[in-house]
Amino acid sequence: MKNILITGGAGFIGSHVIRRFVNKYPDYKIYNLDKLTYAGNLENLTDIEKAENYEFIKGDIVDSKFIDKLFAEKKFDAVIHLAAESHVDRSITDPMAFINTNIIGTVNLLNAAKNIWKDNYEGKLFYHISTDEVYGSLGKEGLFLETTAYDPKSPYSASKASSDHLVRAYHNTYKLPVVITNCSNNYGPNQFPEKLIPLSINNIKNNKPIPIYGKGENIRDWLYVEDHASAIDTVFHNGNAGETYNIGGKNEWKNIDLIKVLCKVMDRQLGRKEGDSEKLITFVKDRAGHDMRYAINCSKIENELGWQPSVQFEEGIDKTVRWYLDNEEWLKNIISGDYEKYYRKQYS
Ligand code: NAD
Ligand code: TYD
Repeated sequence: MKNILITGGAGFIGSHVIRRFVNKYPDYKIYNLDKLTYAGNLENLTDIEKAENYEFIKGDIVDSKFIDKLFAEKKFDAVIHLAAESHVDRSITDPMAFINTNIIGTVNLLNAAKNIWKDNYEGKLFYHISTDEVYGSLGKEGLFLETTAYDPKSPYSASKASSDHLVRAYHNTYKLPVVITNCSNNYGPNQFPEKLIPLSINNIKNNKPIPIYGKGENIRDWLYVEDHASAIDTVFHNGNAGETYNIGGKNEWKNIDLIKVLCKVMDRQLGRKEGDSEKLITFVKDRAGHDMRYAINCSKIENELGWQPSVQFEEGIDKTVRWYLDNEEWLKNIISGDYEKYYRKQYS
């Protein structure tokens, strides 16, 4: 039995990774360590919470004493580290939460792994989940490669870049077996409705304005969340220690075009007249320092590890809308007083 620690498993991507690993690998004991911040939600995991090979642990990766004790007790063989503060807009208003969790939290995990593994790295792995945003912003041409120089522009991406550097430094200095993946924007079920797609779905459903920053010209490369989970599975089992792999959807969309597609899907699924939802599009003040374009070249993971994105955007967006419409209770439960406060401050 392998003991695997997955951090941030109650969040959006983490919950899909936990479900996949718990169901697919009965020989692994999966520990989900999560602080349950506003973004963490155990309702994401009700279907597997009673599985014998699953255990939830509530805790904060910033608390080094707690982390050291936990590692000493559970003797993890591997770590898949997803816990993070993940929303760019929040990083602009409250950067310190990002510095603490994304940088200090990551170093605490690195130290704890290094201390319990004590140079005996056979069968051990520290897998750090990162973002394409560390590479900065592209113009009209080009794609991010694993060798692209880091140029993060927001407090969020700078904190993730910093954690990536530390993970690589622990590999170089202490030979800790690490692997890093940098992934493009994810979408799909269970994403907190502060991010573009679920926020827009929720607003369209409630006939509220869809806030588009600036002119909606910014471009993102969208990947269905289960494809990210399958990439993480592939890299965890077949990736080479010390390596970095980019993960992307080969699916670039201008924000405004993506929202128009989403409006059409919503019209269809809600039984509205085509064009009704589009009327809700509202251009609002641009995000400070808004990165223009992200796009990933993922040929390394395709060629070396045989992973490919499998869900077409039309299918993925259809499934995503269906999930949000079918899971009103989930949405209602996470849209707390705190969310309303955040929303008013951000979009007033
Ligand atoms: P999320 O915000 O939905 O979830 C983050 C989870 O981490 C939550 O469950 C939260 O409770 C937990 N957490 C936060 N601070 C913690 C702390 N101090 N201690 C323990 N747990 C804590 O994020 P997500 O979108 O699922 O992203 C997961 C990871 O993937 C992040 O590292 C993010 O940088 C990376 N990533 C996200 C995307 C994306 O499009 N969402 C793309 C590429 C990479
Ligand atoms: P987001 O989902 O926050 O992801 P990221 O900033 O990590 O790429 O935003 C995706 C894109 O959508 C980004 O260009 C910002 C834009 N956006 C809006 O236009 N309006 C919004 O209300 C939000 C949340 C994002």
